[in-house]
Amino acid sequence: MQTTTPALPAFSRVGVIWLKLAVVYLIIGVAMGIMMGASKNFALRPVHAHVNLLGWATMALAGLIYSVFPDAGESKLARVHFWLANISLPVMAVSLSFVVTGSRGLIPVLAMSEIVAALGIVVFAVNIFLNLKTR
Ligand code: HEM
Repeated sequence: MQTTTPALPAFSRVGVIWLKLAVVYLIIGVAMGIMMGASKNFALRPVHAHVNLLGWATMALAGLIYSVFPDAGESKLARVHFWLANISLPVMAVSLSFVVTGSRGLIPVLAMSEIVAALGIVVFAVNIFLNLKTR
């Protein structure tokens, strides 16, 4: 009897870079969590939370959504979203680390990075509403 291999789903590869970067943020976020626990110094708790939630959770979800819906993933809006998210988060993580450990001079940099991160989320939302299509 002849067996047939089931067809693979036609997922786009466009989300791969998002998913790989998300895992990099997960590694950094988890390492911060382990260091906080080991040192009993929880000052960087909000940095840990944002790296894990914006870096890992939000980017992994974007990667999965962009893989399943290539019209959205390959759009210009997705590229804008990618750069806004991946420029703002490292700047936010570093400046927030300084601010929560006492360097209040970096508050304007932190505020700017938060605005850019929020803009990235708005672009993501617009992309989803305009380009998520069933085939
Ligand atoms: C092995 C992995 C992880 C370790 C060791 C870890 C460790 C920690 C520690 C020590 C705290 C501070 C708890 C306290 O202040 O009492 C914390 C808070 C937190 N973690 Fe994690 N964590 C891990 C993974 C994650 C992941 C994957 C996420 C999200 C996707 C996450 C989200 C949060 C949030 C939202 C808080 C609360 C932050 C706050 O109250 O400001 N953590 N974690």
